[in-house]
Amino acid sequence: MAQEDAPDALTHPCLERALDLAREYIASRSARPVWPTTTLDELRGALGGPLAADPIDSTAVIEALARWAEPGLVTTTGPRYFGFVTGGALPATVAAEWLTAVWDQPAGLYVLSPAAAVVEEVAGAWLIALLGLPEGASVGFVTGCHMANFTALAAARHELLRRAGWDVEADGLQGAPLLRVIVGDEVHVSVVGALRMLGIGSRQVVRVAADDQGRIRPDALAAALDGGQVRGSPTIVCAQAGNVNTGAFDPIDAIADITTRYKAWLHVDGAFGLWAAASGALKHHVRGVQRADSCATDAHKWLNVPYDSGLVFVAHPAAHRAAMSLSAAYLVRSPDEPREPMDWTPEASRRARGFAVYAALRSLGRSGVEDLVDRCCRLARRFADRLREAPAIEILNDVVLNQVLVRVVPPNADADAATRETLRLVQEERVCWLGITRWHGNDAMRISVSNWSTTEEDIDRSAESIIRAARLQG
Ligand SMILES: Cc1ncc(COP(=O)(O)O)c(C=O)c1O
Repeated sequence: MAQEDAPDALTHPCLERALDLAREYIASRSARPVWPTTTLDELRGALGGPLAADPIDSTAVIEALARWAEPGLVTTTGPRYFGFVTGGALPATVAAEWLTAVWDQPAGLYVLSPAAAVVEEVAGAWLIALLGLPEGASVGFVTGCHMANFTALAAARHELLRRAGWDVEADGLQGAPLLRVIVGDEVHVSVVGALRMLGIGSRQVVRVAADDQGRIRPDALAAALDGGQVRGSPTIVCAQAGNVNTGAFDPIDAIADITTRYKAWLHVDGAFGLWAAASGALKHHVRGVQRADSCATDAHKWLNVPYDSGLVFVAHPAAHRAAMSLSAAYLVRSPDEPREPMDWTPEASRRARGFAVYAALRSLGRSGVEDLVDRCCRLARRFADRLREAPAIEILNDVVLNQVLVRVVPPNADADAATRETLRLVQEERVCWLGITRWHGNDAMRISVSNWSTTEEDIDRSAESIIRAARLQG
């Protein structure tokens, strides 16, 4: 095709078509079945086959992709998806993501995209103020809380070993002073995964007792720090704001008292719970978080930014930068010394995910974020109240946040089997979607209310679906 005949990439018909398809999908969010009806084989059959030898028209490709993929999509952006901890996608964030794709900025260095670099700087400062984190903390925009935990713990590893006279970036971990890590019994698996990537194996992590809601017991932590196991070693303590099952918070202030006494690094994994800090009614749950050395959270969970989007905050910027920063002759730093995004993340080339975070914060404002968090918690309590009305349903956790753990306990049937069967029927009905977990040796259904568009009616419809299925169990 001659150059002058090539359609302008930015007005290509496939973009128009994609916009129509996106509009149709958005409009169907609430009415679509939450879980697809298609099968693995059907999806493979529709999407698979050998790669075509020759090019296919882009509009036809997009048309077919939507036709074949849509039956296999889970309506995670819809108001009755309660699986995992999954936010929806606020309108401003979807629009910002569209622009981000069109602008296609690799957000590694200021020189690659001054706007992406400055948006991260601005949104980072807003987040520090909103979440009550230490002024001057450094911020990294990563894929999710797993990588946020990784980045924070890399900074911790750097700093503690530096204080012990060891340069881990240069000399690695072999022969380094022993670095000990203490976590609660209910630590999220991503913290353990992050530590594994940092050379600290899961069997090297010391676990301390948690209470019935999954909160670290400060006495157990103090005993572990005092005991021979870790005494004197540089130590990282990982606390949690928001247990993935119960939503419970470790007592961060009491933990900070202990870590201060032992000069340990305090990391807080607050994938969703950290957002309680934005609510006047809930921020007492994270009291003491400003004393943490590092925090990790997600924007794709409770801030309702599209996947993927995680955030890391480190109260010691020099340690954060030392753990992440790379230099090479061609990676040109700007003479004005702006914030260089790749100094704060494990990746160099990456999507400019700051734009969507910026759009979320700007469109909601402080009161909008607070309202979003409070509303989800109110709806979670309503969900629990509705379900409690059914005699064979038990709520296993204190509903302090947006998480509800549900167990079916019929008088004449096995409760684990009844819970699993209830869940199967609910998932089959497709009014709503929730997942399964184990809590204190029992099967339980997990509900997470994290979507900006969920209403009371969605909660009531979903509770009715669960109660209908539970009634069929013995
Ligand atoms: C407490 C906690 N930490 C970390 C993560 C990992 O987050 P992500 O999957 O966004 O990387 C989660 C995910 O649910 C979580 O609940």
